[in-house]
Amino acid sequence: MDQVNDTVVTEFVLLGLVQSLGARLVLFLFLLLFFVGIILGNLLIVLTVLLDPHLHSPMYVLLANLSLMDVGLSSTTVPRIISDIFSDCKVISFRSCMIQMFFIHVMGGVEMLLLIAMAYDRYTAICKPLYYLTIMNPKMCVLLIVTAWVIGVIHAVSQFVFVINLPFCGPNNVGSFYCDFPRVIKLACMDTYRLEFVVTANSGFISMGTFFLLIVSYIFILVTVRQNSSNDLSKAFFTLSAHITAVVLFFAPCMFLYVWPFPTKSLDKFFAIVDFVVTPVLNPAIYTLRNKDMKLAMRRLSQQVASFMEMT
Ligand SMILES: *[C@@H]1O[C@H](CO)[C@@H](O)[C@H](O)[C@H]1NC(C)=O
Repeated sequence: MDQVNDTVVTEFVLLGLVQSLGARLVLFLFLLLFFVGIILGNLLIVLTVLLDPHLHSPMYVLLANLSLMDVGLSSTTVPRIISDIFSDCKVISFRSCMIQMFFIHVMGGVEMLLLIAMAYDRYTAICKPLYYLTIMNPKMCVLLIVTAWVIGVIHAVSQFVFVINLPFCGPNNVGSFYCDFPRVIKLACMDTYRLEFVVTANSGFISMGTFFLLIVSYIFILVTVRQNSSNDLSKAFFTLSAHITAVVLFFAPCMFLYVWPFPTKSLDKFFAIVDFVVTPVLNPAIYTLRNKDMKLAMRRLSQQVASFMEMT
């Protein structure tokens, strides 16, 4: 026993997503395509919002910040997954594993808070339209984003400080294709029952609570929209259904990964892919394609770029 405790784990082994060569090829192409789409789509949103003065309202500033989080969240995971697809020895150093977990939770935490801020913005716009400009002033917008970052960092640090100090003496097989708290904690050579509860409470119950809060707020907003039916009804309805889709897509995997007590490898894989690959690529699509202002702004931007090209 003592001898086992003397060995210190300096690296972890990750799990492959698929086995056969054909499946690896398909997965490689799929992930590569999605990753390029995530980077281009989200950076396009960020650029459009930053460069177009018409879009300097809280709704679009929050959206651009959400896009940045999507880029961050998939950049911490997807390149690693892609480069691991064809390697048979998927080893990740202790440090990289810790860094990956930390950033997943910072970005994920901030994203969660941004979704709340976006719901609050829509609530104010639709349920208190007369006060919208007073409540959602630029200062408020900055305050919401700073708060999102502070809470996101606290959320990640509060789990990280426990995990970084755990003794790891092997086995070192994470049992997943990325590092995350619930899996890594199980590898510590001590009784981690209480710590697992902390992580479940911190990541799981918070995402569950936030999810229900958001769904209830959106139902409330939808009911208000219906009561004051006017010409804007269908426009508001589109915006809201886009938001609700984003919320469900982001939170369903979170809740499953952290709260569901019976981890199933295949479902785990599926849900993690949804959060790192599908949600980040869908966010630009659902927020942008249905949005006239965003489309107009992108057209203006492309015209500016085209005329700039002609000049040079
Ligand atoms: C994110 O929010 C901050 C604070 O409101 C804002 O200054 C910044 O431009 C936003 N980021 C993007 C990419 O729009």
